[in-house]
Amino acid sequence: MGAAPVFFSEVFCVALKDKILARLSSGGEYISGEQLAKEYGVSRAAVWKAVRALKESGCMIDSVTNKGYRLLSPADTLSADEIRSRLAETAAELEVIVLESVDSTNSEAKRMLANGFSGSALIAANEQTGGRGRLGRSFYSPKNTGVYMSFLLHTDLKLADAVRVTTAASVAVVKAIKSVSGIEAEIKWVNDVYVDGRKVCGILTEAVSDFETATAKSVIIGIGINTSTIDFPDDIKDRASSLGASEPIRNALIAATANELTALCEDLSDGAFIDFYRAHSMIIGRSIEFYANNERRTGKALDIDSSGALIVLLPDGRKTALSSGEVTVRLNSDQSI
Ligand code: BTN
Repeated sequence: MGAAPVFFSEVFCVALKDKILARLSSGGEYISGEQLAKEYGVSRAAVWKAVRALKESGCMIDSVTNKGYRLLSPADTLSADEIRSRLAETAAELEVIVLESVDSTNSEAKRMLANGFSGSALIAANEQTGGRGRLGRSFYSPKNTGVYMSFLLHTDLKLADAVRVTTAASVAVVKAIKSVSGIEAEIKWVNDVYVDGRKVCGILTEAVSDFETATAKSVIIGIGINTSTIDFPDDIKDRASSLGASEPIRNALIAATANELTALCEDLSDGAFIDFYRAHSMIIGRSIEFYANNERRTGKALDIDSSGALIVLLPDGRKTALSSGEVTVRLNSDQSI
């Protein structure tokens, strides 16, 4: 008894989605939800649901109160050629690889290294089936609605300085978001990017190290940005968001991030990007709790030092410097994702 209605409603929804997409494709004007509901003999809620499903599958549909829906074209399709054409000189050496689907772009970069690839690369995917986050978490990476990319770069950074790459990546993302969408984003130490109090981007940096010289020979900087994702899994839906893109931005955002990041990596000792990081920090001056070695501690975030470490004032008046490592910071009443 239970299964049949679900099946029929899904078929119905698919059919309605197709009809609405065809209708919106037929002209560049706004069509109201009421009008669409009347034309297809369904409720406005059904129209809204179908439009939402279309957006989730990557269709760029503009919704305006009291006007209705309009299809924006073209679709936000990833293109290695377009990304390449937007790269600046600092990023021109990158081998640009675009995949339709992959487990994780960071894992793909590792496989390339293991197979002897020795250049620098930018690997972007339309979808990740096993996106990885920090501290063993997963990163939700649905198709069409986000940027999931990894930079494979070679460095001679001392292991202790490798955190600077992550710091630089957050700065690169904030600058790229601003230049492509005009949105002002903030950084939650160490490397989460937030818009309006919700996380829109996570960064996972992994290093291939040479213990003899204590250097990070290669770094894989994995960046996930939600560009137009609407539906998030229950466990993160209250804290995650997207840039709300209603026009194609993914290729431009990937290229802008590549340009910013490669420019910053040319001189990671330049303190200017730490100043930018501080100015865009959402936690300096705020009460925080942090987990170090599985122990919950509290304090007040005072500053970010020149190495990218977070300086925290402890309740007993002492100061401590947190380096990224295995530390998770939570703003009071916030749950880190
Ligand atoms: C986090 O928020 O904990 C970090 C998330 C990092 C996600 C990106 S998406 C591209 C790259 N590939 C992965 O598997 N993870 C990173």
